[in-house]
Amino acid sequence: MKSYTFLAILSTASAHFVLETPPSIGFNDVKEAEAPCGGFDVKNRDKVTEWPVGGYPVYVQSTHTRAKWTYKAALLNSTSSFVDLIPQVGQEGLGDFCLTSIPGVAEWVGLDAVVQVAQEAHDGKLYQCAAVKFTSGNAFTPESSCKNGTGLSASFIASPTSATPTVPTSSPTSSTSSTASGSAASPSPSSEGVAMYWNPVGIAAAVAVVVGASGFGFT
Ligand SMILES: *[C@@H]1O[C@H](CO)[C@@H](O)[C@H](O)[C@H]1NC(C)=O
Ligand SMILES: *[C@@H]1O[C@H](CO)[C@@H](O)[C@H](O)[C@H]1NC(C)=O
Repeated sequence: MKSYTFLAILSTASAHFVLETPPSIGFNDVKEAEAPCGGFDVKNRDKVTEWPVGGYPVYVQSTHTRAKWTYKAALLNSTSSFVDLIPQVGQEGLGDFCLTSIPGVAEWVGLDAVVQVAQEAHDGKLYQCAAVKFTSGNAFTPESSCKNGTGLSASFIASPTSATPTVPTSSPTSSTSSTASGSAASPSPSSEGVAMYWNPVGIAAAVAVVVGASGFGFT
């Protein structure tokens, strides 16, 4: 089968991801599994990205057809305390993956900080970091290179109760109740042999809660 052959070829590709935007502190595919920054110094400030709290794009290239992503930040004086910028995201599909506007931490404007992007797939967890400084202001307009591969899709994974981002947070004014019916059985992934990582009913509910809470458009 055509699709099976395609997946078989992919499985021989080296298992890593590349952080394209913002610029990574450093990339080494052999060390990418080393937390917190893929084998590089979490305090490196060679390339500092100014990240408006209104949002900044995160563009990666993934060699995994299915993975979970986390987007966290820490202050440079406290790099053992990473906080989630958005809830965990599940990605399916391959190649370019760009979230156009990930919010910054308003309380940290002007302070030296680091953003960590982590990918968790069937063969383990990989890390990349970017040196940042959060700035006040509206979302940065992504470059045209910020795009998604054909057929790539992504959604929040977190369950409704844990979907609200730790930071930044404002008290939700309303939360849309999800009435997703449990009858929509998840299609079982076949040839790749990887278990479904998330539950579609949970995604629908989580997205409803997050969009209702922060207006962060994630579709
Ligand atoms: C880090 O710096 C911020 C801002 O100056 C300060 O509020 C915080 O207490 C510092 N944290 C530590 C662990 O020093
Ligand atoms: C890529 O897909 C995600 C999930 O659907 C979406 O939030 C994001 O805006 C897309 N990126 C671009 C550049 O359209």
